[in-house]
Amino acid sequence: MKQAILAGLVTLGAGAGIYLLSGRDGQSVMVDVQIPPLGVEEQRGATLYAQHCASCHGDNGAGREDVGPPLVHIIYEPSHHPDGAFYAAVQLGVRAHHWRFGDMPRQSHVTEPEITQIIAYIRALQRANGID
Ligand code: HEC
Repeated sequence: MKQAILAGLVTLGAGAGIYLLSGRDGQSVMVDVQIPPLGVEEQRGATLYAQHCASCHGDNGAGREDVGPPLVHIIYEPSHHPDGAFYAAVQLGVRAHHWRFGDMPRQSHVTEPEITQIIAYIRALQRANGID
């Protein structure tokens, strides 16, 4: 009996874990991202990010299984991918080198001031998740 209850609890726990790791639209996210309070610029960046980047990089930079990598990830810490890497990625595109998702097409419809706001947002997320 005790074992049955224990097994039930374990199953419930696993179910909750899977639920938490599913994105809004049912796509699997790759990392669990804590969202900090955002300043005005960061909030603008969040809106732009949702419009231009989330379809591949997932809501809140959490990545999307089979689609695109998380940006809230140690690979993208400022000392390895400084802000210049973000401007270059958006303006020129990226040849696949860290992951197996394929190339990132350039997003030439996103302006430089918009990229600046998106970077502010991503850095805020990274800091809140211990990546700085
Ligand atoms: C069509 C899908 C797609 C979209 C849209 C997209 N990306 Fe990417 N991005 C990728 C993929 C895939 C990679 C990983 C390439 C690799 O294997 O290293 C990537 C990599 C990156 C990198 C790392 C560049 C480097 O030097 O390694 C940055 C920064 C980045 N994306 C930022 C953004 C931002 C900001 C946006 C929105 C303006 C965006 N991406 C939109 C698919 C996308």
